[in-house]
Amino acid sequence: MNLEAKSVSGRETRYFCDWEAKPLQLRMLKLSFLLIILLISTVAVPVFSADRYRREDFPPGFIFGAGSSAYQVEGAAYEDGRSSSIWDAFAHEGNEHGDTGDVAIDEYHKYKEDVQIMAQTGIDAYRFSISWSRLIPNGRGPVNPKGLQYYNNLINELIAHGIQPHALLCNYDHPQALEDEYGGWISRKIVKDFTAYADVCFREFGDRVSHWTTVNEPNVFAIGGYDTGMAPPKRCSPPFVFNCSKGNSSSEPYLAAHHMLLAHASTARLYREKYQGEQLGLVGISLYIFQSIPLTNLTADVAANQRAQDFLTGWIADPLMFGDYPSTMKRNVGSRLPEFTNHESKLVKGSFDFIGLIHYNYLYVEDNSVSLKEKNRDFNRDMGVKLYCMLLITNTRLVRGFNLWNSGN
Ligand SMILES: *[C@@H]1O[C@H](CO)[C@@H](O)[C@H](O)[C@H]1NC(C)=O
Ligand SMILES: *[C@@H]1O[C@H](CO)[C@@H](O)[C@H](O)[C@H]1NC(C)=O
Ligand SMILES: *[C@@H]1O[C@H](CO)[C@@H](O)[C@H](O)[C@H]1NC(C)=O
Repeated sequence: MNLEAKSVSGRETRYFCDWEAKPLQLRMLKLSFLLIILLISTVAVPVFSADRYRREDFPPGFIFGAGSSAYQVEGAAYEDGRSSSIWDAFAHEGNEHGDTGDVAIDEYHKYKEDVQIMAQTGIDAYRFSISWSRLIPNGRGPVNPKGLQYYNNLINELIAHGIQPHALLCNYDHPQALEDEYGGWISRKIVKDFTAYADVCFREFGDRVSHWTTVNEPNVFAIGGYDTGMAPPKRCSPPFVFNCSKGNSSSEPYLAAHHMLLAHASTARLYREKYQGEQLGLVGISLYIFQSIPLTNLTADVAANQRAQDFLTGWIADPLMFGDYPSTMKRNVGSRLPEFTNHESKLVKGSFDFIGLIHYNYLYVEDNSVSLKEKNRDFNRDMGVKLYCMLLITNTRLVRGFNLWNSGN
């Protein structure tokens, strides 16, 4: 998600986030990052320093940490046997205005320095992600010994500095080989391959990793990668979005999320049955959580807000808690929403020791149930809302922002 500063006037700065940022806006985004830094270093200081939290304000055992994702930090994208992930392909197609993770911050070579800095910062834990295509270049089959070596080195370095290793298995970056072979998450075949990959990770690193997260933000990954095409693997379809060469925005977001849930559940069961007793770690999943607020107190907007929560959070959280999708989704999505068999429902329900909540900003929700009358619908039209995304730094006055999806504007 991108942030864009719309106005800077005295102490009133509004940041709008826009998932559908156009290439033309990208140059502006660089400028807006500068503005954010400026804001933090000047205007916002009196605001933030008013909240002086100290470690003692948190319960004993509260873990402060930092997180990263493999493609954002490792670099060494073509070294030591690593093969491409969907992120490599996406970046090299120019979807990130020419930027790639080929080098990134070069953590692959500089992990010792990075861990040193983490130790100096005083963090208790580091949540890194494992690059599936570094560990198992073809997605399944032979394990890359250099990949094994790298993650063992990183984990050992963290432990030597008293930092808990928390590992994430998939951060929008499954191997391109599996995308080419069967379409990645749109195929059920990935459940088996993902579980086998996780098995390697648990077996090789599980004696030292305390927390395992299976899939990061399955909700946003499925929307961005399979409805709007904003994220890899850039699958989408007209009439919703026109810029993808393949995909189906009506059905694939639901299919991808369904397989992520099944892969998560299968992996969690594997961990619990084969490793947890001895390794004593925890296994979970992390969700992108939007705090949402009805735009007005009109009944339609209040109902739209509940619908937005069902679609954005309940989509993943309800199967984990109750073994099935929210009834709103079943009603609005109909036969495009995959069904859990009894067996799958039992497997998914309760398949976590923790649910990670990732929160950046909140949304205002406005009713747009008129979209449910359209015959062809994507995730957004099934949800039937308009989402306005805003981050108000110092001002609480409500100003309309962009609709997250262009549609229905
Ligand atoms: C998508 O395609 C339209 C029409 O060809 C073009 O104007 C727009 O810039 C493209 N957007 C992206 C994100 O590539
Ligand atoms: C997308 O999938 C739906 C449901 O399977 C189907 O009805 C529709 O024709 C597909 N659309 C495209 C563009 O393939
Ligand atoms: C909606 O009602 C609540 C409770 O009365 C109030 O706090 C809130 O400001 C109202 N929101 C709007 C947008 O009017």
